[in-house]
Amino acid sequence: MEKANIDWKNVGFGYYKTDKRFVANYKDGKWEEGQLTSDDKIVLSESAGVLQYAQTCFEGMKAYTTVDGHVVIFRPDLNAQRMYDTAKRLEMPPYPVDKFIEAVEQVVKANLKYVPPYGTGATLYLRPFMFGSSPVLGVKPAEEYQFRIFGSPVGPYFKVDAKPITLKVSDFDRAAPKGTGHVKAGLNYAMSLHAIVTAHNEGYNENLYLDAKTRTKVEETGGANFFFVTKDKKVITPKSESILPSITRRSLMYVAKEYLGLETEEREIRLDELKDFSECGLCGTAAVISPVGKIVDHGKEICFPDSLDAIGPISKKLYDTLTGIQFGRIEAPKGWIRVIE
Ligand code: PLP
Ligand code: COI
Repeated sequence: MEKANIDWKNVGFGYYKTDKRFVANYKDGKWEEGQLTSDDKIVLSESAGVLQYAQTCFEGMKAYTTVDGHVVIFRPDLNAQRMYDTAKRLEMPPYPVDKFIEAVEQVVKANLKYVPPYGTGATLYLRPFMFGSSPVLGVKPAEEYQFRIFGSPVGPYFKVDAKPITLKVSDFDRAAPKGTGHVKAGLNYAMSLHAIVTAHNEGYNENLYLDAKTRTKVEETGGANFFFVTKDKKVITPKSESILPSITRRSLMYVAKEYLGLETEEREIRLDELKDFSECGLCGTAAVISPVGKIVDHGKEICFPDSLDAIGPISKKLYDTLTGIQFGRIEAPKGWIRVIE
């Protein structure tokens, strides 16, 4: 397969229009078969549910070229199920899990020339999404929907040349206790935009959001979950009903325990405990593992001694093992890797 003429080593995390995308419409109470199209434009009613009441949700996943030249995707069943759960929470018609996986495969196959070659560090990001397409005026769910998937070649989400990032403890909340923080609703990201622009303007890479009820516990950032390494080398991650159940985080906790023999724990983590931890990292499809050196809480610096200047030793092992599995250098647990080509 001849590859597109792209400077693979220098691609950032942005939208790049690829050849084909998948589209399926929901009408009269059912999903149509759906198909690939070259048309990247969408024409909508001015009163479409997505435009008036933000009825939209999405997923994020990646296709990788492995060391032996295959193209694979990572745990697509979990993305399919999470989008199913998100749709239900938003009163949208869930897209069937098996059809979701088939559609992802079609998009990857139709855009193989945009799957970055092995060794470049880049991947093909896949963005399944769904939105209310029919008009609404009263506050209610739309009657018609569109499900789409496009792909875009991407490089690292945080461009800091492997230097650990610095976060700000945000004064804004990301998710309400019984709200939508645990699903991938577009509205969660809309409400984070002011917080992220504020953090960037102040020189931070991202925000740490606290739990909205007590503002004492660590939740997540706008686009990734946290993990921390304690002084006795335990890998811990926040437990909360208002954070997104990250597929990367769930995979990392498994890798930590089963591949690296580390102790792991998912539990509530208080902001005032962070000073005792030795490493901090963000994890997610886009973020992969991004080391965090410092978190600033209203002028007070919380430094992670083992990830202050470079990725920490445990985070590095986690990174190497997870990406080793994704790029086919390390044997994957059964069912984690789906070979497309
Ligand atoms: N948390 C938020 C808010 C996200 O947007 C994402 C990205 O998908 C994650 C966590 C990481 O989840 P995953 O590892 O499934 O990509
Ligand atoms: C992802 O990691 O796939 C995300 O959705 C995070 C961000 C780019 C929104």
